[in-house]
Parts: sequence; structure tokens; C-alpha cells
Amino acid sequence: MRYTKIYGTGSYVPDKIITNEEMTKFVDTSDEWIVSRTGIKERRIVTDQSTLDLAEIAANRAIESSSIDKNKIDLIIVATVTSDYAFPGVSNLLQSRLGLDNVMAFDINAACSGFLFALQIADKMIKSESYNYALIVGAEILSRLTDWRDRNTCVLFGDGAGAMVIGKSKTNKIKDIITASKGDTDFLLFSKNPDIKDPYVNEISSQDHIHMNGSEVFKFASRIMPKTIKKLLERNKLNINEINYIVAHQANLRIIDKSARDLGIGMDKMFINIDKYGNTSAASVPIAIDEAIRSEKIKRDDLFLTVAFGGGLTWAGALIEY
Ligand code: ACO
Repeated sequence: MRYTKIYGTGSYVPDKIITNEEMTKFVDTSDEWIVSRTGIKERRIVTDQSTLDLAEIAANRAIESSSIDKNKIDLIIVATVTSDYAFPGVSNLLQSRLGLDNVMAFDINAACSGFLFALQIADKMIKSESYNYALIVGAEILSRLTDWRDRNTCVLFGDGAGAMVIGKSKTNKIKDIITASKGDTDFLLFSKNPDIKDPYVNEISSQDHIHMNGSEVFKFASRIMPKTIKKLLERNKLNINEINYIVAHQANLRIIDKSARDLGIGMDKMFINIDKYGNTSAASVPIAIDEAIRSEKIKRDDLFLTVAFGGGLTWAGALIEY
């Protein structure tokens, strides 16, 4: 039986910071409201970089930390809802930027759960012996889809990218992954593609922004995150005290806090960086895993859980020994 493991991780966020205080200049909000409702203090946004630029820097950092020859990578998956082009995908252009041949590269869209969906696909493609080493990336420029005049959503999001190199292993390190979806027929969370236009009028289509039913998404997330963690524990016959650390999608500090209380654990076991970056969608989980590893909150051989939810609706979780 062939197994998989993490070889390296990397992440990148753009330099430009927008603090909560700065947001009060263009929407009716306050630092106190944003911090108390979400835990976010500031977020990063691009000025002139593309999603590909963010992905490339995170990918190079992950490859560097993996210590493997990058030419061994034969699979690239990029999870994003903010690709620079309808086509080619970020993954295809990334392959070219990294100078890699003989690679299958494609993008997936599962919103904030996208990185763990990519992990599921790559893990199974390596375990099936079709591929050996995969570069998986979550990269987003959510500021592209943000309506900067809508205080209900604009305070929540930020830009960034995270990456991971996984590959074949003799020991079983990426132990279990859950990925699931439920069609969002109530449209709790969406952003439309440009409308189809009458060709005779030649109107220019405009890009839609993010729409969200915040309280319903909050309820869904608070229920699904602990449920996914409990399911992973149960089917691997583990109890929560055997887990060293939990890296959850950074969407709202209160959702993470509620999950911790539901699981009967302290917040010291939960990774938090939402204060610095806000919700970076598919980039959130890989940035958080990379920072948890680099800050030694997750050490070699530690058992950790990661969990996410997002538009779709989608949700996912993974049990990994680092
Ligand atoms: N500043 C000040 N007031 C605000 C702001 C703001 N930035 N945003 C909303 N409000 C106001 C609203 O207008 C409303 O006022 P009203 O009662 O007079 O109408 C009130 O605050 C809303 O309060 P609550 O509903 O109590 O706010 P809540 O505690 O639910 O927090 C929040 C709102 C932060 C959006 C929360 O619901 C949430 O985090 N939901 C989940 C969001 C999420 O995780 N999204 C995932 C996106 S993932 C993806 O795939 C992109």
C-alpha cells in the first residue's frame, strides 16, 4: 500500500495592510464592531499583483521547504474562486512560471474548502500510483469580488496564497480526509458571473460581488466544523485529547471559538491568524497550516486536524500526522 505525507509548506500575503480603522473611511463601521463580531483587526490586499503572482511565491516557498527536486512534481492543483482568467487556469500558468514539464495542472473551485478538496484529489491520485508528488495551492484575490461599500461583507475578506507539496511515502501520514457538499439552493453565499448580454446592444458585462446571508452561514459553519472534526475522530478511533492541534478555516473567531467549546477543548489548541488576514477563502487553510508549522505549533510527528467550510456549500476536514 502506498501512503502520502507532507513534504513542505509555504505561504504569502501581499504587503498592503488595510486596518479596521482605515475601513471606517469608506463604510459605516468601527474597529470595535469588527473585532468583537469577527476577530479581524486588519487584512492584506493586492495593489498590482495577480492571483498567479501570489500562488507562485507561496509555491516556491513550499518547494523550498520540501527539499525535493521540483522536477519530481507531476501534479499541480490550484484551488481558487478568483482565477485571473476564465482560462487558462492559475495552475497552468503556474506550471509555466515554475518551469515544470510533464505535469497535469488544473484549477478547482470549492470556495473556502477548496484547498482541502485539492488535498483529497491529490492524495488519492498519489495513492493510486498515477502520480508521485503534487503541488497544491490555495490562492485568492477576494478584494476583486468585494463590494467595498457593503459593510456586511467587505470587512471580512483579504488576499493571500498558501501551498503544500505532498508526495508518496512509506509511512501513513495523511491519514484521512472528508470532503462534502450540499447545493446552496437558498443562495446563502454567492457571487454571480457576468450576465449574458444581447450581442446587438454590445453592453459591457460587469463583475458581480460577494453576497452573503451572514447569520445563516454562521449557523451552518458553527454546526459543520465540530461535526466534521467529530466524524474524523470517530472513524479513526481517536479522542480529541490525542490531537495536538487544530487548524480551522479562518472565517470568524467566534465560529472557531464555538467549535472549540463544542469539542470541549481550549482555544490554545486552535490556530488563529484571522486577526491579521481576515478570510482569504481557499488560501486560508494552507496559510494557517504553513504558519502553524513555521511557528512550531505543529511539530514533526504531531497529529493535527484541519477543517473548512465555504460557499457551495462545501465542507471538508483532514487528519494528518506531520
Ligand atoms: N460594522 C457595523 N455594523 C455592521 C457591520 C459592520 N461592518 N456589518 C453588519 N453590521 C450591522 C448590520 O447592518 C446589522 O445591523 P441591524 O441589526 O441594524 O440591521 C447588524 O450589524 C448585524 O448584526 P448581527 O447579525 O448580529 O451580526 P453577526 O453577529 O451575525 O455578525 C457576521 C455578522 C460577522 C457577518 C457573521 O454573521 C458571520 O461571520 N457570518 C459568517 C460569515 C462567513 O463565515 N462567511 C464565509 C464566507 S466563505 C466564502 O466562501 C467566501
